[in-house]
Amino acid sequence: MRKPAQLLLAASAIAMMLGTTMLPATAVAASAEEGKKIAEDRKKGNCVSCHFYQGAEMAGTPGPAFVAMKDRFPDRAKLAAQISDPTKANPNTLMPPFGKHGILKPDEIDAIVEWLYTL
Ligand code: HEC
Repeated sequence: MRKPAQLLLAASAIAMMLGTTMLPATAVAASAEEGKKIAEDRKKGNCVSCHFYQGAEMAGTPGPAFVAMKDRFPDRAKLAAQISDPTKANPNTLMPPFGKHGILKPDEIDAIVEWLYTL
């Protein structure tokens, strides 16, 4: 009696895992939400200290506003590169090289890109 019950439990756990990985739409939404959190975290991205965007609170303005990001940065890799190491495009930029300096991990930058594409 015990074995089939355990099997059932294992099967439903696998089904749950498959269910979450097989829903890309849900994964993307969660990732954009995660990206927003990382971007607004003062100890992580803190992008709001330099960039204004819709809904931003007390945004600083040395950097351009985050608007129409998908239109202006259709190439994901370029957008990620700007966040990872903006000194490549402008050696004198104020913007910290988040990836190069290990402030943000690649998957955190990916999540931020996902979020930026919603702006
Ligand atoms: C200390 C200020 C500062 C912070 C913090 C900062 N940026 Fe920037 N960012 C800038 C400035 C200034 C520019 C203008 C380009 C330059 O300086 O080369 C810029 C440019 C950009 C651009 C290009 C925008 C465009 O319209 O051309 C993107 C994208 C960007 N930043 C994303 C981010 C993200 C995402 C974060 C947070 C992870 C962030 N920035 C944090 C200052 C900052």
